Amino acid sequence: MSEPYLRPIDLKTPYKLVFVCLGNICRSPTAEGIFLHKVKEEGLENYFYIDSAGTAAYHVGESANSKSQATANKHGIHLPSKARKFEYADLEEFDLILAMDSENFSNINALDRKSRFENKIKMMRDFDPEPGNGEVPDPYYGGMQGFENVFRVLERSSEALLEELKPYIKS
Ligand code: 4NP
Repeated sequence: MSEPYLRPIDLKTPYKLVFVCLGNICRSPTAEGIFLHKVKEEGLENYFYIDSAGTAAYHVGESANSKSQATANKHGIHLPSKARKFEYADLEEFDLILAMDSENFSNINALDRKSRFENKIKMMRDFDPEPGNGEVPDPYYGGMQGFENVFRVLERSSEALLEELKPYIKS
């Protein structure tokens, strides 16, 4: 049976995805940049609306963290995001809301008081084809290796997510 967050995708009704972490400066901007890059590579950018947000407001208005940017750039990917806080309206707006870790997941679900949107709130690593602990780890306080690891996890998970969505695109 297909998942409830799946639906036909066409040019009039682009599929809306939002990647969510804590600060919206490391993990979710990286996921957003990777997914944008992948859909552009396949000429599918008009079928998607892609965004990112944070459950905390500490960094609102900031560009992606310099280590996240350096890591993405090394892989040929640009991170266009400016940090914003995830809000209730996003629960209604987006088709799929992707939490980076279980704390983000709980914070998003806490906004969904009547559990109207729980079918479209997912963990990003649910899509990771490789085994792991289910979380995209927070790299903020660590070194470049942590950022590289986050990039690889998000690259694999984004690829698998796009493959799951592609059959729903109607030309
Ligand atoms: P992110 O990383 O949630 O992946 O953007 C963090 C960014 C900032 C903070 C924590 C995590 N902070 O505590 O300011």
